[in-house]
Amino acid sequence: MSAQHRFTIAAVPADGVGTEVVDATRTALAELARRGPQPFEITWREFDWGSHYYAEHGRMMPEDGLDRLREMDAIFFGAVGWPTVPDHVSLWGLRLAICQGFDQWANIRPVRFLPGVRSPLRGTQGAQGRALDWVVIRENSEGEYAGLGGRNLSGRGPGHEVAVQSALFTETGCERIARYAFDLARTRERPKVTGVTKSNAQQYGMVLWDEVFDRVAEEYPDVEAERVLVDAMAARFVLQPESLSVVVASNLHADILSDLGSALAGSLGVAASANLNPERRHPSMFEPVHGSAPDIAGQGVADPIGAFGSAALMLEHLGLPAAAAALEAAIAETTGAGVLTPDLGGNATTDEVTKALVDRL
Ligand SMILES: NC(=O)c1ccc[n+]([C@@H]2O[C@H](COP(=O)([O-])OP(=O)(O)OC[C@H]3O[C@@H](n4cnc5c(N)ncnc54)[C@H](O)[C@@H]3O)[C@@H](O)[C@H]2O)c1
Repeated sequence: MSAQHRFTIAAVPADGVGTEVVDATRTALAELARRGPQPFEITWREFDWGSHYYAEHGRMMPEDGLDRLREMDAIFFGAVGWPTVPDHVSLWGLRLAICQGFDQWANIRPVRFLPGVRSPLRGTQGAQGRALDWVVIRENSEGEYAGLGGRNLSGRGPGHEVAVQSALFTETGCERIARYAFDLARTRERPKVTGVTKSNAQQYGMVLWDEVFDRVAEEYPDVEAERVLVDAMAARFVLQPESLSVVVASNLHADILSDLGSALAGSLGVAASANLNPERRHPSMFEPVHGSAPDIAGQGVADPIGAFGSAALMLEHLGLPAAAAALEAAIAETTGAGVLTPDLGGNATTDEVTKALVDRL
């Protein structure tokens, strides 16, 4: 096997169902490597970080955590968060630390309607009979999650503390994500980008966001472009999803809209994502969109489909498009055959879905 097809991947399962879906994905990838259409070899490096690590060490990952990940070809992440650690501590201490530390500025979140999965939407065919399928591109490095702000004045006594949380919009940040969205749109059946905004209320950052979007749009006359306010966009996801192809939004807006998208596609459990450093100066990270799901963790019923889809995005990123396509096809065949976990109305376990998928590879 050529060196180009050998990869070292960091596994960071972290918390709750994160560990269950990462295990399932590793099983699936091992089989795909063995009998898939495109040979490859993955050497996994385990990183036992997360809320249990915090309990022992007082931090979510070691101080040199990023250095340990730096040489990896990619990172496969489960989910972080557990009731014993405040969510802002667990998120900033691990997932956001990796995303920001490695400048993974493009978060790709496809909204896919899988066969056999019932959507709460009335029809999953668009107006032209096309199956619904759109992708949310999330600005992943700044915006509302730039981490700028502080708390002060608690010395004034109970009830008088203040907190400031600022959103950061830079021309560089806005331009690179807009350009990414337009480039992606050119590769899709429908070359269209919808820019999500809230510039009517947020007259500084979001106006800059809009201006950069419009400027970039002019360079892509072959791609249809429109801007929609985020509140109207939430309604559009439900009422006119066939009008969507590529949706680009700020960190917070895309975070919320993509969860809505995955719920419309059937469950948060099926949503996949990639956190990309498109320049490839640093490793990119692949993870299901869902969190650690403490309510079902340990029961063996976590839906692994979102993690499998994220693995397909990772294979694509690693230059293995045939392997990625084979995994995608096996996902669709598995759900199409009605092998579904309880979040999708089925009664299969994580292991049963994994086995069904492996049988179809
Ligand atoms: N990327 C991440 O690591 C990430 C994302 C979101 C939330 N979180 C963290 O996860 C913890 C729980 O957060 P939450 O409850 O708001 O969100 P969640 O995504 O963990 O769960 C929301 C709902 O979706 C269900 N669900 C999630 N994943 C599922 C799966 N694979 N299969 C079946 N059902 C699934 C859960 O059972 C729950 O009912 C918190 O600590 C939060 O901070 C982490």
